[in-house]
Amino acid sequence: MFRLMPDLSDDLLLRLYHKGAHVGWTSDDIDWQAPVELSDRESEALARVLSPVYLGEQSAMLGAANVLPQLALAGEATGQLYLSTFLLDEARHFEVLTRLYHRLQHDPIAIRKLPAMLRYHHRLRQGDRVDWVFGILVSDLFAKQFYQLFSKTRQDALFGDMSQRILIDESRHQAFCDEYLSRALPKLSPQRRTALRDMRDELLRIMQEMQDALGADAEVLGFSGDDMLARVAHDIEMHSRRIGLDGGPDGGGSGTDPSRDPDPVDLAARRAQREKSQSEPLQSAKDDCDGCGTCALAAICESRIVRRAVGR
Ligand SMILES: [Fe+2]
Ligand SMILES: [Fe+2]
Repeated sequence: MFRLMPDLSDDLLLRLYHKGAHVGWTSDDIDWQAPVELSDRESEALARVLSPVYLGEQSAMLGAANVLPQLALAGEATGQLYLSTFLLDEARHFEVLTRLYHRLQHDPIAIRKLPAMLRYHHRLRQGDRVDWVFGILVSDLFAKQFYQLFSKTRQDALFGDMSQRILIDESRHQAFCDEYLSRALPKLSPQRRTALRDMRDELLRIMQEMQDALGADAEVLGFSGDDMLARVAHDIEMHSRRIGLDGGPDGGGSGTDPSRDPDPVDLAARRAQREKSQSEPLQSAKDDCDGCGTCALAAICESRIVRRAVGR
C-alpha cells in the first residue's frame, strides 16, 4: 500500500485537493446567533426531512475512510490526497448539522421509523471504490438539491447560510466524482456498467420511498418532495451521460452529446413501477396457492399484509 515518490502529476484531482485544503471553515465560522426563522412545527419538519442527508454526511465520512486504502493500493496517489480533504469536508458537514439539530431542538427521524435510510446507506457500502464513488455522486446530487433549496429561500436564516457553505464543498465533490468516474468507466466490463445503472435505479427507488414517507414534512416547509426528487433524478441522468454511463446506442456511454438534457423524469411512472414490482411476487404467490391451508405459501397468502397488497 505504501508507495514512496508516487506519481503526483498535476491532474484535476490534485487541483481539487489543493482547493479543498485551502477552504478552511469550521463550525466556529457559522453565526450561531442567526435566526432559525422557523416555527416549532417547521423546525420539526426540517429535522425530519434533513435526516437522510444528515445520515449521508456521516456515511460519506466513514466511507471515505474505508475507500482511501483502496486508492492507495491501486496507486491512485492524487485521488488519495483528494479523498483526505473530502473526508474533512464531510466531517465538517456532519459536525455543523449535529449542532443545527441542537438548535432546532428536534431529533432526526429514528432509523426504525424510516428503515429505507439504512437500506440506502447499506447499498452505498457494497462493491469497490468505483461503486462507492458513483454512490457518492448520487448522494451528493440528492444533498445538493436540498441545500440549494434552503440557500435560495432562506439565505439569512441559520440553515440557509450553512447550506451556502456546504454547497461550495459539495461542488468539489461532484467535480471529483465526474472526473474519477469518467476515467474509470471505460475500463469497466459491460456487466459492471450495467451493475452501476442497477445501483443508480435502486438508490432512486429508495430515495422515492424516503420521500413518500417525508412528503407531509416537505409540504410544511413549503416545497414539493416530488418536484425535488424529479430534479435529483434529472441531475443524476445528466451526470450519468457526462461520465459516459448512459447515452450510447446500447445504453452505454459512447457517441452521444453529454451536454444534451436528458428526458424529463416521470416520478409517477417510477412509483407505479415500484408498487407493481412489490405486489407482483405476492400476486403470483396467491395465484400459485391452492388453498390447502397447510403449507408456508398458504400461510403467506392468508396474511393480512398480502391480502391488502393483492386487493383481497
Ligand atoms: Fe457533505
Ligand atoms: Fe459530499
